[in-house]
Amino acid sequence: MKPILWAFACTALVSHVYADDWTGHWVMQPPTGQTPSTASPSHAIAPGFRAISLWLKSDGTRLTGYMSGRAGNTPVSDGRIDRGHVSFVIITDYFGEERRANYSGVLSGSELKITLPPFGTRPPREVTLTRVSTADPPPLPPPPPKITLPPAKDVPYNALAKTPPMGWNSWNKFRSEVSDPLVRQVADAMVRNGMRDAGYVYVNIDDTWEAGRDPHGQILTNERFPDMKALSDYIHSKGLKIGIYSSPGPKTCAGYEGSYQHEEQDARTYAAWGVDYLKYDWCSASQVYDYHSMPAVYARMGQALENTGRAIVFSLCQYGVLKVQQWGAHAGGNLWRTTGDIQDNWQSMSRIGFDQQEGLETAAGPGRWNDPDMLEIGNGGMTDDEYRTHMSLWAILAAPLLAGNDLRSVPRDILEILTNKEVIAVDQDPLGKQGRRVAKNGDLEIWARPLLGGAWAVGLFNRGAGSRRVTLHAADIGLTRITHIRDLWAHADQRAAPEHTADVVSHGVVMLKVQGK
Ligand code: GLA
Repeated sequence: MKPILWAFACTALVSHVYADDWTGHWVMQPPTGQTPSTASPSHAIAPGFRAISLWLKSDGTRLTGYMSGRAGNTPVSDGRIDRGHVSFVIITDYFGEERRANYSGVLSGSELKITLPPFGTRPPREVTLTRVSTADPPPLPPPPPKITLPPAKDVPYNALAKTPPMGWNSWNKFRSEVSDPLVRQVADAMVRNGMRDAGYVYVNIDDTWEAGRDPHGQILTNERFPDMKALSDYIHSKGLKIGIYSSPGPKTCAGYEGSYQHEEQDARTYAAWGVDYLKYDWCSASQVYDYHSMPAVYARMGQALENTGRAIVFSLCQYGVLKVQQWGAHAGGNLWRTTGDIQDNWQSMSRIGFDQQEGLETAAGPGRWNDPDMLEIGNGGMTDDEYRTHMSLWAILAAPLLAGNDLRSVPRDILEILTNKEVIAVDQDPLGKQGRRVAKNGDLEIWARPLLGGAWAVGLFNRGAGSRRVTLHAADIGLTRITHIRDLWAHADQRAAPEHTADVVSHGVVMLKVQGK
């Protein structure tokens, strides 16, 4: 081919491959077997799957438009196009905090492959969008007006949760697979395997039990829960208690029916079913309420539960935003989540446990607990050493202990971690004082919690890669002499000395009960 023709052919090819006409409506293709939807994305159906669509307008080098998803329509900022590649930023307001997420993409045939930014500890992910229209983006509709509630009166303390609640919750392991037969089997297992007798009494059904409402507004259960009252009676007959889940918004996080505008009615229904615990998850409430009204929104359900006259533990789940530790108890909360969702890996658990709880300890006490999220122990993503760290740290943090694994078949090592009576006694110590970090040297951290009667629970943690020696000095916990040391995982007394040195394996813990003067 003559050079001039070659150059012409190349230009034609390039302009074909890098057409750079991105204008139109691009819709995400969900994982195999899922129905595309931007209206009710459900991470319960496919964990981690969130439907998005993009309305784009390109002018060769610049890209404008907006992204539509669960959070509504968000403008595309800083959109750039460069030979088939695109990058843009989505700026959102996360409860008053600006969050910037960087997206990049590439045009591949008729498909647009977009790399979603990391979310928590979830790594970046590529999703494929297809163009369903080549029209210009329609003008952005004005955001719907939000409801502002007047400040609420304090909800009286319900006298529950004098120590952090203990039990099991369906979400971490079962997501939308939770069902009446499963919950019964878990309850049976908890009696059989000693979990109940170790103190785990709440059997909590998380999201996805809901159907719609009947013409009277009565909440309905879906086909996986044919008779909630019968299930509740069964759980109670086993010496256990039952928990349930809802949202102050129109929809739950998994897209099921929420309690919006039905708070009193739902609270009465829960009481009639014999429910003992409610986890109330913000989620779609942001679509209807100005989030500054959040304390009043929670107080509305807190008061509704109180009005039923039934003893129902109230668990706030709003990911720790807006300094919930300062108002959670005033809204009737017995516990409140302090972070986003935990995942079954070291990075997620250690970040939540070690890095995101500091300074919250003064808010905790009998009846009112910080909740660093449910346990992942036994779900398979961490080693036993890491799970022992999880359990020890949660006990020092006076955290609710809600197992999240399949309790119908628990390996012995996992059961031993979950039912270690000496560690549970730390978590359930009646003084109810949350512990804190007392020393840090790189990857080595010492956390301590005062116990009723003057003893201390102490965790020597090693977040690093190899085994290390960690030394506790009496002064770390305000003592001049140490008179007694017990190792709570070895179940053995140790020689008391003013300094106590222990070998701590990578990602592991040596958990002690220390007495002294
Ligand atoms: C949120 C909560 C989780 C779980 C799911 C259910 O993500 O933080 O604990 O309840 O919703 O959809």
